[in-house]
Amino acid sequence: MSGTTTEASVILRARGIRKSFKVGERRLEILHGIDLDLERGELLGLMGASGAGKTTLLNVLGLLDRPTEGEVFLTGHAAWTLSHTERSHLRNTKIGFVFQFYHLLPELSAIENAILPAMIALSGRAFRRERKHYTEKASEMLDAFGLGDRMGHKPGQLSGGEQQRVAIARALLLDPPILIADEPTGNLDRATGERMLELLLGLQAERQLSMLLVTHDERLASHCERVVYMEDGQIQADSRVPVPH
Ligand SMILES: Nc1ncnc2c1ncn2[C@@H]1O[C@H](COP(=O)(O)OP(=O)(O)OP(=O)(O)O)[C@@H](O)[C@H]1O
Ligand SMILES: [Mg+2]
Repeated sequence: MSGTTTEASVILRARGIRKSFKVGERRLEILHGIDLDLERGELLGLMGASGAGKTTLLNVLGLLDRPTEGEVFLTGHAAWTLSHTERSHLRNTKIGFVFQFYHLLPELSAIENAILPAMIALSGRAFRRERKHYTEKASEMLDAFGLGDRMGHKPGQLSGGEQQRVAIARALLLDPPILIADEPTGNLDRATGERMLELLLGLQAERQLSMLLVTHDERLASHCERVVYMEDGQIQADSRVPVPH
């Protein structure tokens, strides 16, 4: 990365993000006005204590949850001003999301979970036409991730690491330029976490992904080109220091 930020080099931009939740009679402000840029091809780490607001922020950036104030610009589109349908399309094609607890659908097999984004993005007829293509694409990925003989397994019949690899295949099915991962190794043992890290870093380099990675893991963070720190719903002012590899 050149280190200079230009309009064209920013793929995901957040400005003035505030998020509050109503809890009973009270309104609890969790994010207090966050500005953040993710550059094209960048691997950006996001760290901070439990409860700092990392997941809340990712949900807003990943267009899963509407901010109370502020805007997310995704490939130049002001995402939260779009209609629900337009925003869903933008999210589906531009952002892959990997969660700590995988979030696979329990009644679907590994391969069915992996092709889900195509099923959602396309109309019924278009999906039927394209099903073979996406099934082949998903099975190639699952195969490459070492799950060639697990495609028909349901999530309950897979280990945590295997479920996370299915979730990564699902996230990348439509070749999104952005991958957002919320503690992808947080629920895995050390050795499995290391392999997941290798897989993610390999994919990021191979596909030139713009990747936003939340982690509590210093080893994982040390692979990031840049790490920002969150505290009490704010990005710390001095957190743009690149971490040496
Ligand atoms: N839907 C909600 N309603 C009310 N409060 C919420 C809601 N979601 C999150 N919070 C609160 O917002 C704060 C930030 O939560 P968040 O999950 O974003 O933290 P985090 O930084 O991801 O923590 P962790 O590292 O433990 O995952 C917490 O105090 C949490 O209780
Ligand atoms: Mg979290």
